[in-house]
Amino acid sequence: MTRILMVCLGNICRSPLAHGILESKLPADKFEVDSAGTGNYHIGKLPDHRSIATAKANGLDITNQRCRQFERSDFDNFDIIYVMDQSNYENVVKLARDTNDISKVKLILEDASSTTPQEVPDPYWGDSKDFDDVYALLDEVCEKIASELKK
Ligand code: 4NP
Repeated sequence: MTRILMVCLGNICRSPLAHGILESKLPADKFEVDSAGTGNYHIGKLPDHRSIATAKANGLDITNQRCRQFERSDFDNFDIIYVMDQSNYENVVKLARDTNDISKVKLILEDASSTTPQEVPDPYWGDSKDFDDVYALLDEVCEKIASELKK
């Protein structure tokens, strides 16, 4: 079993989308996908209604997810930890105990082409178009990640 964790700040906008999208592209008997936030603002809550709506419009139901905070034990429980932006990276790496922990953390767009942004923009203060753009960005990168992982 390969375990992949998606991390953003709130765990209500970006990482729930990344979690649902990647999970939908991988066989459940070989891969486990989860998500968490570095912040503690929304623990126990559903994803943001705008993330739920854009996921639903793309045929994905993410209402089984509940917000949780990233914790140090996640370094033991996951093989790859994808973060959405540089600030998430710094917050996660702060909790790392050693270089092995740090080596698990990657910016999700790190290997994206030079024409796309290196960070997934936070749509929290934006509108539904921003959520659709984030969905498209994550769908594209998760397609690449899934095909690499399945090799
Ligand atoms: P996310 O977006 O990190 O993509 O889930 C945010 C959600 C909530 C807040 C910030 C970002 N917040 O400040 O409550």
